[in-house]
Amino acid sequence: MYSEKVMEHFRNPRNVGEIENADGVGEIGNPTCGDMMTFYVKIENGILTDVKFKTFGCGAAIAVSSMVSEMAKGKTIEEAMKISNADVAKELGGLPPNKLHCSNLGADALHKAIEQHLAKKPATGEKGCHCPFCDAPVEGSSICAPCKNQGRK
Ligand code: FES
Repeated sequence: MYSEKVMEHFRNPRNVGEIENADGVGEIGNPTCGDMMTFYVKIENGILTDVKFKTFGCGAAIAVSSMVSEMAKGKTIEEAMKISNADVAKELGGLPPNKLHCSNLGADALHKAIEQHLAKKPATGEKGCHCPFCDAPVEGSSICAPCKNQGRK
């Protein structure tokens, strides 16, 4: 019923645990079965240097968490955000149809952890930032040249 790879990750899950002072934490619950998955990420210079998880769930959910953590470790934020639930199920050699919902937790919890990290980052005025008041691009300063923050509401 399960592929060898699923069984192997279930028996020896990688990266189980919690990261102290994690840069991002993402928690997802599965409404179908009530299981829970939490991902922790450490991010340095845009790279996921460490990924850990805690999963309260079925064997497939544990194998999925383990695989997601391996796939994400060492990747850039952009690469990690592209990991899909379908990619994870494929890497595991497939999951039985009634267990596909379990794989839906993995990448979602990882993405949530990364999104939390991105949301926490203060606006630095670096290229790519936008004035929070008028939405014009802001470079090198938190004072917006077009509106001088006059668009402040
Ligand atoms: S049955 Fe709940 S995650 Fe698999």
